[in-house]
Amino acid sequence: MGDQKSDFISLIRLKMSNTNGPSLFRLGVIVTMAGVISLGVMFFWFSSPNKCPPPVFRPHQYSQISSLSDKAEEKPILLLWVWPENYRFDFSVCKKFYNIDNCQLTDDRALYSSADNVIVYHRNIQWDLSNLPPSPRPPFQRWLWLHLESPTNTKRIPGLENLFNLTLSYRQDADIPVRMRLMTRKKPNEDFIIPKKDKLVCWIVSNDDPSTGVDTRNVFYRELSKYIKVTLFGKAYSGFLNYDDYYPTLASCKFYLAFENSIHKDYITEKINGPLAAGTVPVVLGPPRRNYENFVPAESFIHVNDFPDAKSLAKYLLYLDKDKDAYRKYFNWRKHLTPSPHLILQTQEFILAICTACDYTARHRQYKEAHDLYEWYFN
Ligand SMILES: *[C@@H]1O[C@H](CO)[C@@H](O)[C@H](O)[C@H]1NC(C)=O
Repeated sequence: MGDQKSDFISLIRLKMSNTNGPSLFRLGVIVTMAGVISLGVMFFWFSSPNKCPPPVFRPHQYSQISSLSDKAEEKPILLLWVWPENYRFDFSVCKKFYNIDNCQLTDDRALYSSADNVIVYHRNIQWDLSNLPPSPRPPFQRWLWLHLESPTNTKRIPGLENLFNLTLSYRQDADIPVRMRLMTRKKPNEDFIIPKKDKLVCWIVSNDDPSTGVDTRNVFYRELSKYIKVTLFGKAYSGFLNYDDYYPTLASCKFYLAFENSIHKDYITEKINGPLAAGTVPVVLGPPRRNYENFVPAESFIHVNDFPDAKSLAKYLLYLDKDKDAYRKYFNWRKHLTPSPHLILQTQEFILAICTACDYTARHRQYKEAHDLYEWYFN
């Protein structure tokens, strides 16, 4: 209020300096004006005791906004309720790998009552729901359902309706879709060089468990390998691959079998990102070509369904092996798009999802409910 009063005084001073009449007259004008103004102000103050003056920024509010440490407190808290598969990592990697730093990530359950958002990892939820975050739940708090497996590999734990607010999944229609993306570039890259190749078709298979739905790809692989040589690597086979060798090995193959373990809409994993980033042509088995083309250019990959059978696919790959120009066409997209290598350690599997959630929840603070997860996920 003191500020308003001094504003009146400077207003009077301004008027006064513009007045050219005799000083006595000037004094009279000043006194009258001051009187009128003070009366007006007093009338306003005393006649409406319940009316609050318009809100003014008090100095400490300013300092709260401008001081750095307080700014950090303003970041919404994202609490990771359990470590998915117990794969721990340092939260600072979100900044390091993806330049994401706009939320306060924590695994400290003591912050539960002040956490703006809580991530719950589906596969860790106990059948009786006993390890979910406790009630009462802060009214402002949103729960994020984290799940990266396809429906084929999803347990239907009962009782998850009307608990969650946001879904975090590979699905494009999730609230928070998680995926490696190709980035556009304005300045064309003219000098991409296809890495040297000494193998024709490669495949890294780490999971060969029939219960996970791998049958389709195994059947296709067996048929394909009758007509073309496929070099195998990975846990499921003898040629175990060191992590450091992942990208160099991919780069040394002309084609890479990016076969998903089960076939579902949008279930297009890092299996295609690896060869794209390494400079290899992916041969994909998964959802229809059109679905892939939502994420990667049509001419960057070969789809097994482009051919009537494995034999004709093999024939086409052998033809590309001989025709340098035809093979080179699969890299034209590199001129305007840039792939990024994904993290390959198994313990890094959830980093992208958790960092993506951090960024999303910091930018979107709306109310939202996810009523029936399974109806959405399985239908
Ligand atoms: C989160 O979802 C639950 C259940 O669907 C709902 O009761 C709650 O009000 C929602 N909260 C927010 C902040 O969106």
